[in-house]
Amino acid sequence: MSLSPTDARLIEAAIQASKGAYAPYSRYHVGSAVLMRDGRMGTGANIENASYGVAICAETNAITTLIAERHGIIARLAVVAYPSENPQGGVLGAPCGRCRQVIAEFSDSETTVLIAYPDGRLGLQLTLDELFPHSFGPAALGGATA
Ligand code: THU
Repeated sequence: MSLSPTDARLIEAAIQASKGAYAPYSRYHVGSAVLMRDGRMGTGANIENASYGVAICAETNAITTLIAERHGIIARLAVVAYPSENPQGGVLGAPCGRCRQVIAEFSDSETTVLIAYPDGRLGLQLTLDELFPHSFGPAALGGATA
C-alpha cells in the first residue's frame, strides 16, 4: 500500500523526532508526529528519567504542547520505535495504554493512528476506535467543560 504524501511526511517527522529521544535506561527510542485537524503538526520523543516511572512517552510529548496551543482535535498520529542498538529494526511499537488514553482525550471518530517501522514503512493504520475500543472518556463524566 503506497502512502499519501501527508502520511509519508508524518512518518518521516516521527523518525526525525525519535532522534531526540532521551532513553539511556530502556535504550528504546520512540518518535511521534501529530497532525491536528487545523493543519498544525507537532512532534515528540520519549524522555526518560533516573526515576524510571517519570518517563514521558513520545506521543504524549507530541500532543501536550499542541493542546496547550489550542490546536484542537488530532487528525493523524504517527509513531515509530526501535531499540537503540538496532535503529532499522525491532518489532512494531504500538502506543502504550496510557498514550492511547491521552490520544483519545483529543480525538474523534476519524482520528487515525499510523504505526510505522523505523525505515518508514507503514506497519498498521487504525482508527483510534480500532486501536482503543470501549475507552473511558469525558462522556462518562458528563462531558468536559474546559
Ligand atoms: N514509550 C513511548 O515513548 N511510547 C509508547 O507508546 C510506549 C513506550 C517509551 C517509554 C520508555 O521511554 C520506553 O518507550 C520503553 O518503555
